[in-house]
Amino acid sequence: MTAEAPDAARRAVAAFVETFGAAPRYLVRSPGRVNLIGEHTDYNDGLCLPVAVGLELCLAFSPAEPTDEAAALIEVFSEDRDAPARVHLPPPVLSASGPPGRAARAQAGWTGYVEGVVAAMGSAAGAGASQAGADASRGWFGTLASDLPAGAGLSSSAALELAVARACAVTWRQDWDPVEAARLAHRAENHWVGAATGLLDQLACATSTAGHALRIDFRDLTTLPVAVPDSVVVAIVDTGTRRDLVTSAYGQRRAECERAAARLGVDSLRDLADRLPADAADRLDPVELRRARHIVTENTRVQEVVAALLRSDLAHAGAVLLDGHRSLRDDFEVCGPELDAAVAACRTAPGCHGARMTGGGFAGCVIALIDARSADTFTEAVLRGYRAATGRDGVVHLCRPVGGTSLIPVQEHLPRTTNDSTKESGQE
Ligand code: GLA
Repeated sequence: MTAEAPDAARRAVAAFVETFGAAPRYLVRSPGRVNLIGEHTDYNDGLCLPVAVGLELCLAFSPAEPTDEAAALIEVFSEDRDAPARVHLPPPVLSASGPPGRAARAQAGWTGYVEGVVAAMGSAAGAGASQAGADASRGWFGTLASDLPAGAGLSSSAALELAVARACAVTWRQDWDPVEAARLAHRAENHWVGAATGLLDQLACATSTAGHALRIDFRDLTTLPVAVPDSVVVAIVDTGTRRDLVTSAYGQRRAECERAAARLGVDSLRDLADRLPADAADRLDPVELRRARHIVTENTRVQEVVAALLRSDLAHAGAVLLDGHRSLRDDFEVCGPELDAAVAACRTAPGCHGARMTGGGFAGCVIALIDARSADTFTEAVLRGYRAATGRDGVVHLCRPVGGTSLIPVQEHLPRTTNDSTKESGQE
């Protein structure tokens, strides 16, 4: 089955009208991301090359009026009609040690992310000259719709975090600085939800540019948009398998990398530049050696793919992606049978330059760089091959790079039946 990018914006607005009986003042779209190359390098001060994709989460919202009964409440409903997220203002306090009850919040699902981001944005509103005049006591209410499956490695949580951050920034009249918003969302994920992830997802979601991948250097958080040639489509193959970053072996991999760096006498594995020391095998145990080798070679692969894209050498970019997959499978050991089967199916499908698993690993999605003209035949062949190998049905999303979290006009996403008097548009 092939999925067209469906219209989360329209669904978020329709849910708002249905829930609150009026049109929302604002609408935020917040993209998911895939990582072309540079996996597990973010928390090793390394290099990544993510792409924001047109599978997105949308949040329709209106600031509360001072006269409203719930003027100091943030209330967010999801289109699934499960229990809403409710945060009473002033925002809760976010501390680095993590407040008690964090485990319960991780279990709480998406509502924990809303609370955490409100707390992080609240801490920024209370500090910093640039935020002078920000008023974090005003509530807002909204509805969410998302085309991003949770746990599939497409950063559904970062998309949610940045959408909530944007709604707080608009309501509290905070300046919108995408990098700062990404940092705050990341703090919420680490310290409130309790997922010890790196900053890749939030930066990709907040700061990407349409038509471009984003080279990120995590040593200094500098970013460089890298044009993705028009002839190329990023195919996302969802294997239908899911994982949870709070409970998966993600934290273990992080600890293994830190241990390897300490034993090699460097602050982070990035400091090894492009090769392991000659005596690495004597100083590391075999597991640490494999983890360190993945990080060092992966940083080099990011530079190679950037250079290949810049000269439109898609065959080489694709070959490096396949190397990256092998390294994640054999050295970093975060692959899984379904991810492997999907990459194998991509490799032999028409028009494929290269493919690899993407995201934290263990389950979720693989990506392939494909020739736009072969999109249909590629899709058919991959789904057939994946089914033959695993007995499972995959889903293919065909994407071009999109821009980061932004406000979009409400007006053009209103349901047709909405009364004209409710049409109030809140665009930038
Ligand atoms: C997850 C994390 C990111 C990054 C990737 C692996 O998506 O959220 O910070 O570490 O895994 O590259």
